[in-house]
Amino acid sequence: MKRIGILTAGGDTPALNATIYGAVVRASQLQVEVYGFIKGFSSLLNPRLPHVHLNPLFRPIPELDATMGGTLLGASRDYVDNRNTALLDQVAGRLGQLQIEGLICVGGDGTINGMQPLAERLPAVLAPKTIDNDLGLNYPSEVDEWQHEEEGGKERVFRRPGRVKFDREYMVNYVTPGYATAVFESAQGVQRVRTTAESHRRIAIIEVMGRNSGYIALGSAYGQPDLVLIPECPVRTKILVERVKELYDLQKNVVIVCGEGVIDEQGRELGAVTQSTDPAGNVALSGAAEALRQFLVQEIGDEYFRSKRRGDKARDAIFTRKVGHTQRGGRPVLFDRTYAAQLGGKAVEMLLEGQSNTLAVLQWNKTQGFYVDSFDANRLRDRWGHIHARQVHPSFYDAEGMQPSATGIEYLLPIFSTAVGHDDLEYIRQSLFRAGNLMLPYHSINTDVHRRIRYLG
Ligand code: F6P
Repeated sequence: MKRIGILTAGGDTPALNATIYGAVVRASQLQVEVYGFIKGFSSLLNPRLPHVHLNPLFRPIPELDATMGGTLLGASRDYVDNRNTALLDQVAGRLGQLQIEGLICVGGDGTINGMQPLAERLPAVLAPKTIDNDLGLNYPSEVDEWQHEEEGGKERVFRRPGRVKFDREYMVNYVTPGYATAVFESAQGVQRVRTTAESHRRIAIIEVMGRNSGYIALGSAYGQPDLVLIPECPVRTKILVERVKELYDLQKNVVIVCGEGVIDEQGRELGAVTQSTDPAGNVALSGAAEALRQFLVQEIGDEYFRSKRRGDKARDAIFTRKVGHTQRGGRPVLFDRTYAAQLGGKAVEMLLEGQSNTLAVLQWNKTQGFYVDSFDANRLRDRWGHIHARQVHPSFYDAEGMQPSATGIEYLLPIFSTAVGHDDLEYIRQSLFRAGNLMLPYHSINTDVHRRIRYLG
């Protein structure tokens, strides 16, 4: 192969530039040109195929900085419809015109789905990324546990867990680039909220991202919240209220972390079911934290706080905070940069070895620590062809204590023990209060990359 393409699809993560950098460096060593496609699959849908040559003279362009968050190529959630064969043929034709012989898609489960029909037309592999840490399997046969059934004209998808003895050395893709940085951010958020909750004797509910997977919530335990609620385990409301009161009686403040996808005992997503009205009377869809807040306000009641001389209203004592997109943005921590770059390099090797429809994975075992490998993308699909988001394994969570279990702690330790580099901290020290930040406007990478964009024809 002389020329390959790379694109970043789906929601961004902080380590995407590191993945691209790893791919470009490895390709350059192998004398392969790398063209980056702009805004994920949306570039391929554009007849002009906007692209950037990322390694002229087999050196990475200076704009490609592995320590920068986001992606210099831009990202989007546009995918190629796999039923639209005419369009897919056009895309393959365009790539052929540009002499692209292989494609690296950097993304998560949605991206694998987008990549699959293309992999039937040219070699295509995936380098993983997602802050949600939900791309992979807890053990290789997990995918066979999914069942699809017809019920009242609707398809019911559920899981019939097997009797596999869980061993984290058999996890497929132990952790995805982006996760460590997201946890770095959310754990710090928890620590910061704690001291203000302590001072004002309040109850804080902090919502973290992750969709239906609770990995970010689990990792946020590093910030020492009192309770961690993950989507995999329905919120047991009675016990929750008891625990919150117990903690509040003891320490006069409580910090709860909840994953945005937490569900109630009926299996309904709290964030999706709660509606409230904003001050103007408009219906505002509130998130999981807000739903939990409303529940606690109602269950604990004003009298409880009055009796403790902590104000008149439960709703003043209980507040929420979303960590939000700060989890997804900014400089990636050392762990993410290191392994994202290795996975990018591995993806190049996989293409050159003749692989297609495979993904680079980050594995872990006690003797080797972390190492990269490859995995057949079809082995992530159930018998109906679906890829399911990996969920936190039940053994990682102590549902009674609402905290990571001993096994969950064992899972987190190898990732986070050395996740933050000295340079990550030095970077904050040197860059945050740089005088120039006040005087100069922000200079966007998009402006520089725009000058390098070329089109087909
Ligand atoms: O999948 C990554 C993720 O950050 C989720 O954790 C979150 O629910 C979602 O994307 C948010 O997406 P958007 O930025 O499109 O609102």
